[in-house]
Amino acid sequence: MSILINIIYLLSISLFIFGLKFLSSPRTARKGNILSMLAMFIAVMVTLLDRQIIDFVYIIAGILIGGLIGTIAAKKVQMTAMPQMVAVFNAFGGIASALVVIAQYLRYPNQVDLNNAVTIPITLFIGMLTFTGSMMAFAKLQELMRGAPITFSGQKTLNFMLHLAILVLIVLFILDPGTNRMQLLLLILFLAGLVGITLVLPIGGADMPVVVALLNSYSGLAAAASGFVIHNYILIVSGAIVGASGLILTNLMCKAMNRSLMNVLFAAVGQESDAVATAGKKSVTRYTPVDAAMILENAQSVIIVPGYGLAVAQAQYALQDMVELLQKNGTTVLYAIHPVAGRMPGHMNVLLAEANVPYDLLKDMEEINDEFQTTDVVLVAGANDVINPAAREKGNPLSGMPILQVDQAQSIIIIKRSLSPGFAGVDNELFYDQKTMMVFGDAKEMLLKIGTNLKKE
Ligand code: TAP
Repeated sequence: MSILINIIYLLSISLFIFGLKFLSSPRTARKGNILSMLAMFIAVMVTLLDRQIIDFVYIIAGILIGGLIGTIAAKKVQMTAMPQMVAVFNAFGGIASALVVIAQYLRYPNQVDLNNAVTIPITLFIGMLTFTGSMMAFAKLQELMRGAPITFSGQKTLNFMLHLAILVLIVLFILDPGTNRMQLLLLILFLAGLVGITLVLPIGGADMPVVVALLNSYSGLAAAASGFVIHNYILIVSGAIVGASGLILTNLMCKAMNRSLMNVLFAAVGQESDAVATAGKKSVTRYTPVDAAMILENAQSVIIVPGYGLAVAQAQYALQDMVELLQKNGTTVLYAIHPVAGRMPGHMNVLLAEANVPYDLLKDMEEINDEFQTTDVVLVAGANDVINPAAREKGNPLSGMPILQVDQAQSIIIIKRSLSPGFAGVDNELFYDQKTMMVFGDAKEMLLKIGTNLKKE
């Protein structure tokens, strides 16, 4: 029986790996999701058949209640609130692993071998820090608390002391003959919770998606560690896959922002900068949607730069309708996708795929940056930080972040509601550039109006 179960686990692991492979392209992402869901379903079912864990009535009740909450949450969540949702998922993943090992300890307090003496406190540490860290990330993203970094003197020392104390407690747990283990676990639980909070406090809102990816990796590691505690291979392997992919994603995002992970975690980037104060003192060129339609109509080539504002306005369909009119007019249209445009990895790709924009028109930053110079018009829809030339200067939260070289284009149309800065809080000189035409208003409304005026011609 156990060989058969392990073979089925192996099948499920293979499905996970293929699922991940398919997720690497928007074209095959749906298939990837379905394969991964199937893998998880198989894994859960086989585990339930294998083990008499608790009464099936409780398990089915749990599946129904959890499934209902998950379905409602997934249906209701806005595209713009996806990072918060992922943060909550990570939090639940972390706390689930912590609870599994506590339950395992309470069930067999006198059967803690060396393997479990090491893995129980470690799982508890990672699981609990993932829980509180992710809940903090959720609170910042949901604006339940200030998104700016919160720092205080002695923060790094406190962090160091907390880690040291936890290390000592883990060693004590391993060495303990069994008398004080529960107290040690509770102390680790408490201190790990504090570590999660102090980890996320100094991180600014703009860096939060990187932290969410890192916490995603931690939740995987916690699951893998809990797999060692309860001797479950599928948990070990799938947890390790989540841990590794979360780390790879974190690394990719850090690279896209030209920052090291240490810089993201400890540099407290995202404080209000002086640049913001200069907004409003300079003049801008204001255009109406009618003017913008005229400029676009006369262009041979157009590059669209979508950003977070496009997602907020849910303007992807209006954009696609407008683009189709331009294409009918003989204009070449491409989309420039910055790797961190929006609020989560792949945000723009998903959004544009929703509106059936052909994948081959979506160009990555490296692919398109040389094209701006030779393109007639660049239309920026609700993007800001990813085109902000301040990233080339030193001493601001965007410094060093690779940007789309929109400022090299001949004419730039920017649709946004005001001159307010983007997520990083840095004023954008491009708004005041002579070749920039600002179209102020909601992205969807403005794109619809531009489309209407294109149709009239
Ligand atoms: P932002 O810099 O945040 O700019 C979005 C702009 O959209 C805002 O300036 C806002 O200006 C405008 N906007 C908001 N609602 C709008 C609406 N209804 N209609 C029209 N415009 C609207 O976005 P971005 O350029 O996409 O940059 C993404 C930011 O997130 C970067 O700082 C990036 O580092 C950060 N970040 C992203 C990720 C990932 S993975 N995506 C990860 C880490 C960090 P108004 O208020 O004036 O309209």
